[in-house]
Amino acid sequence: MAFPQSFIDELVARNPIEDVVGQYVSLRRAGANMFGLCPFHGEKTASFSVAPDKGIYYCFGCHKGGGVINFQMEVEGLSYPDAVRALAKRAGMSVPEDEQYQSRYRQQERLWALHKEAARFFHSQLYAPVGKQALDYALGRGMSKSILTTFGVGYAPDGWDNMIRAMKAKGYTDRELIDSGLVTQSQKDKTKIFDRFRDRLMFPIIDVRGNVIGFGGRIIKKDSEAAKYLNSPETLIFNKRKNLFGLNLAKKSKQGFLILVEGNVDVVALHQFGFDNAIASLGTSLTEEQAALMTRYADQIVLIYDGDKAGQNATQRAIPILEKAGLHVKVLQIEGAKDPDEFLHKYGADRFKLLLEGSANRVEYQLNAIALKYDTRQDDQKVKFLQESADLIATLGSAVQREVYAGRVAEKAKISLDAMKLEVDRAFKRRTNKEKKQQEKIDLSPARNLQPKSRNIRYDNMKSAMAEEGIIAQALRDPALLDKTGNLQDTAFSSELLGRVYKMLKQRHDQGLEVSLAVLEDLNQDEMSHMVGVLQRHDGPVNEQAFADCVATVRAEHQAASVNSEDDLLTFRNRLQQRKGMKE
Ligand code: CTP
Ligand code: MN
Repeated sequence: MAFPQSFIDELVARNPIEDVVGQYVSLRRAGANMFGLCPFHGEKTASFSVAPDKGIYYCFGCHKGGGVINFQMEVEGLSYPDAVRALAKRAGMSVPEDEQYQSRYRQQERLWALHKEAARFFHSQLYAPVGKQALDYALGRGMSKSILTTFGVGYAPDGWDNMIRAMKAKGYTDRELIDSGLVTQSQKDKTKIFDRFRDRLMFPIIDVRGNVIGFGGRIIKKDSEAAKYLNSPETLIFNKRKNLFGLNLAKKSKQGFLILVEGNVDVVALHQFGFDNAIASLGTSLTEEQAALMTRYADQIVLIYDGDKAGQNATQRAIPILEKAGLHVKVLQIEGAKDPDEFLHKYGADRFKLLLEGSANRVEYQLNAIALKYDTRQDDQKVKFLQESADLIATLGSAVQREVYAGRVAEKAKISLDAMKLEVDRAFKRRTNKEKKQQEKIDLSPARNLQPKSRNIRYDNMKSAMAEEGIIAQALRDPALLDKTGNLQDTAFSSELLGRVYKMLKQRHDQGLEVSLAVLEDLNQDEMSHMVGVLQRHDGPVNEQAFADCVATVRAEHQAASVNSEDDLLTFRNRLQQRKGMKE
């Protein structure tokens, strides 16, 4: 165990869940529980609940749940030990550090420090004679010196070991340099290392807590064969799917929405012109993790990707990801320039502001994209255009919205509004029918419904698993029931997870410790969410008879399952016959 259990128990006791959650979510009391807007997915109605007496939270919308430590991990994006440290600090407790975690944390801290030093080094090189070309390039593209400082833009000189030598002078080892991803190892001789970034304009990638975690290096030479951007590889401190360029600055913006663009240069230009809410992803297409990260700072997002085919495709891919995270999406199509950077330098901030204000919501954008596909002067293409538009409009939840957009399309294609409305209605019915069928399918297979949502947790024996859930849920409500399990062992549980939880709870109860999910530290995030879901699902009355029934079911299922070899089958049959005989 990473931290002593007694320490974790005290940590949980001294950080009441409603207080910790209350720092992020405004909670309203309703009976024994409290409700608020879920911080993990965007929503308008409160489906996020906190149960102070049980020390847990659960969202009925996104099914996340857990104790106070899990909450801290999720909401701040921290690892388990870092969340424990943060909560300890909050409660004014000192942390008994585990050797392994301590060394990992120290390693992270060294890498953060190394990255900060490297950023300083690159920045200084931009203003050294060797960086003249790079500085000219940046200034030539309209970046001001002050914005270069704000972003810590730098220059990685040409050559094999400029950065390496500078970092070694600061006391960093080869090992640390290799772990940082800032160097590459020679294929032939792994002990030989050289600078990964050479002759590139360097953009530090900084996380929301202000740590430099990686770099994006942009090529400077015009007609180079190399890729435009070279990014840091994945390291202990850098995951490009979970971070966004510029978010460290944009999170402080007062604009209330974020602008998502493709290139680092665009982000820098936007900030320079006063749009301090611009961010970019890091060379991959947008991920769910990034969308979730954005929801922590804004509920609306304006997408501005390049107007070329690749940019359009990226936009269409990003829309559902952002909407699923609960963000309100708008799309801005730049005209008269290839990207925001060029537009700003050509037409200025005021014109850009007008563009921004007029940016289309995602439906308008997608309707436009459909219109561009067809030549509506030809009848067959016009029909396709109308049908595809109707399908899109049918995805809108509000009847008013559907009518408004139907009207626009009708006007565009010069058909009557009635005809278009009919088409949309038909598409809408098709859609709701399909959804209803899907729902029926789910409703008709309760087993599938009860199967855990997480891919890593599976119930092999549903009957036993339901009884196992019952045992745990009831024991959590009334721990004294754990005295009534006879000699039921965790090995009799069909689900590994439920067995493990049972064992931990039983042990704690036998030792006279508090029995609650919030103090179990051996569960990972998925497992914790699942267990909180179990607790929510079985919220009926607790009684000894129901508990005993569950115990009996688990025993019987276990016995039946362990009858597998032929011998066992024989003894099992004999036993059954004996029992029958006794009854007769
Ligand atoms: N990209 C990348 N790594 C980054 C940032 C962007 O690989 N850290 C990729 C994006 O995925 C996109 C392209 O680089 O495909 C962005 O191009 P562009 O907008 O042209 O980049 P800018 O920095 O704005 O450069 P330019 O001045 O040429 O517009
Ligand atoms: Mn660009």
